[in-house]
Amino acid sequence: MTKRLTGRVAVITGAGSGIGLATARRFAAEGAKVVCVDMNEDSGKKAAAEVDGLFIQADVTDEDAVREMYERAVREYGSLDIAFNNAGISPPEDDSILTTGLEAWKRVQEVNLTSVYLCCKYAIPHMQRQKKGSIINTASFVAVMGAATSQISYSASKGGVLSMSRELGVQFAREGIRVNALCPGPVNTPLLQELFAKDPERAARRLVHIPLGRFAEPEEIAAAVAFLASDDSSFMTANTFLVDGGISGAYVTPQ
Ligand SMILES: NC(=O)c1ccc[n+]([C@@H]2O[C@H](COP(=O)([O-])OP(=O)(O)OC[C@H]3O[C@@H](n4cnc5c(N)ncnc54)[C@H](O)[C@@H]3O)[C@@H](O)[C@H]2O)c1
Repeated sequence: MTKRLTGRVAVITGAGSGIGLATARRFAAEGAKVVCVDMNEDSGKKAAAEVDGLFIQADVTDEDAVREMYERAVREYGSLDIAFNNAGISPPEDDSILTTGLEAWKRVQEVNLTSVYLCCKYAIPHMQRQKKGSIINTASFVAVMGAATSQISYSASKGGVLSMSRELGVQFAREGIRVNALCPGPVNTPLLQELFAKDPERAARRLVHIPLGRFAEPEEIAAAVAFLASDDSSFMTANTFLVDGGISGAYVTPQ
């Protein structure tokens, strides 16, 4: 580990679990001061304690809470260098467009897309003052590919995150602020493990499309986030950063 983030202050949303938690650990190992934001008090607190960081309980769909979490990070740690806007949901009610109700559609848009709008809106002014910052917004490979196993609002929300990140990356490039969209392939999280342990056919239907033949580990996604957060990616902005085991590049996969 080369401690690429020494002295940097990073705010991670959804830090209590999965990709957010693995990234909190990785950022801390790289030398960053980590602010762990989560709606879930237990898991968020645990994550913050583990990385010797600050826990802020916040719902990222709440405008005041989002504004305040960045203010507090700057007040307590002195700057805001990295914003990893990662909290997201994929509830089972979000399915085919034919069966997904408006409530489920709206909820997913709020948590996955409006939250990223709010996080960028309130993180950017701090970074403008510093003339430096890296924002990483979690989209998904489904932002660039269609799936017959639809989660319609989820896919649409991630498409929104992708194009919003691109636009912000362009708009703020000359102010020293980089904005990139991270597009993970399917990740080996407890939720996914449980779902596919119950339904091996469903797992196989997805695995066949992945050239690397497996789902990602959260640590592999965290490594990509650390790269985007660090100066190693200093010439990258407005980017669609796919970490997907080759899915989006594949036509026929190995047997
Ligand atoms: N797991 C995958 O296969 C996969 C693939 C591509 C993209 N993603 C995206 O990566 C991100 C993280 O996914 P994960 O698998 O680590 O999920 P996860 O469910 O393990 O963790 C998400 C965290 O976000 C928190 N959260 C949810 N809603 C919130 C809210 N309104 N305010 C604050 N915190 C909230 C949860 O409490 C949880 O701790 C999501 O945006 C997801 O869409 C995941």
